[in-house]
Amino acid sequence: MHLYIVTGSSRGLGAALVQQLTAPEHTVIGIARRENPALQAEQWTLDLADPLPAAQRLQAWLHAHRDANRGWDSATLINNAALLSAPGPLAATDLDSLSAALRVGLEAPTLLSRVFLAGTAGVPTRRILNISSGLGRRAMAGAASYCAVKAGLDHLSRALALEEPGVGIVSLAPGVIDTDMQVQLRGTDPKSFPEQARFQGLKDGGQLQTADETAAAIVRFLMRPDFGKTIVSDIRDA
Ligand SMILES: NC(=O)c1ccc[n+]([C@@H]2O[C@H](COP(=O)([O-])OP(=O)(O)OC[C@H]3O[C@@H](n4cnc5c(N)ncnc54)[C@H](OP(=O)(O)O)[C@@H]3O)[C@@H](O)[C@H]2O)c1
Repeated sequence: MHLYIVTGSSRGLGAALVQQLTAPEHTVIGIARRENPALQAEQWTLDLADPLPAAQRLQAWLHAHRDANRGWDSATLINNAALLSAPGPLAATDLDSLSAALRVGLEAPTLLSRVFLAGTAGVPTRRILNISSGLGRRAMAGAASYCAVKAGLDHLSRALALEEPGVGIVSLAPGVIDTDMQVQLRGTDPKSFPEQARFQGLKDGGQLQTADETAAAIVRFLMRPDFGKTIVSDIRDA
């Protein structure tokens, strides 16, 4: 049996990952604020902007399933959920949405990783996949908090890999995907978001991958025996 926990499962890349990971011998748990009725997986409706109760729920679930845990062949946590506060200068960003973006994007993955690592000790194959972004590695005006969250995920992954040499840990940039996040980026007023035209150009030029295509590439990447060898990775180079 294989356990997969995927955050941000209600739409976009997370929904495609859950769909493709769903199989008879897999236990798949999706976490988001809303359920996606098309998914067969168990879904927890939780707000990751309030990450402590979400992490405590996963901790309690792993504890309650500790006997099953001994029978799992693998356990995988995919920290995929992210929230983009309205693109624009940090000084003009709404404080509540800024705080939520930081909590969903970095605090939640850190707390979920903490309870996952402790709660799956002894499972032969363990993986943490953090969905990062090229913007964790290249700064962009109008998305300072998003850049910081993704750079934070990259460095969290590097440090965790030093602590947990037996766990495959990767922070992966997934490429540019045709999801709501891209709709939000290209729908922003270019006066407050200088790179709006670049995102519009990517869409107009047909350069976006579908969520299904990206999820398929990520699932293949997850299953590779060398998963975890390169901690900070980009699916376009994998
Ligand atoms: N799209 C791209 O081009 C692109 C490029 C680079 C990296 N990425 C990364 O890829 C990942 C997936 O992005 P996407 O494009 O699929 O994004 P998306 O379409 O905006 O979906 C985001 C997912 O996160 C969930 N989420 C947001 N806020 C949440 C909260 N407070 N609590 C729980 N869940 C929450 C959403 O569910 P609910 O709204 O139901 O809560 C949704 O399922 C993200 O980490 C993103 O940063 C995307």
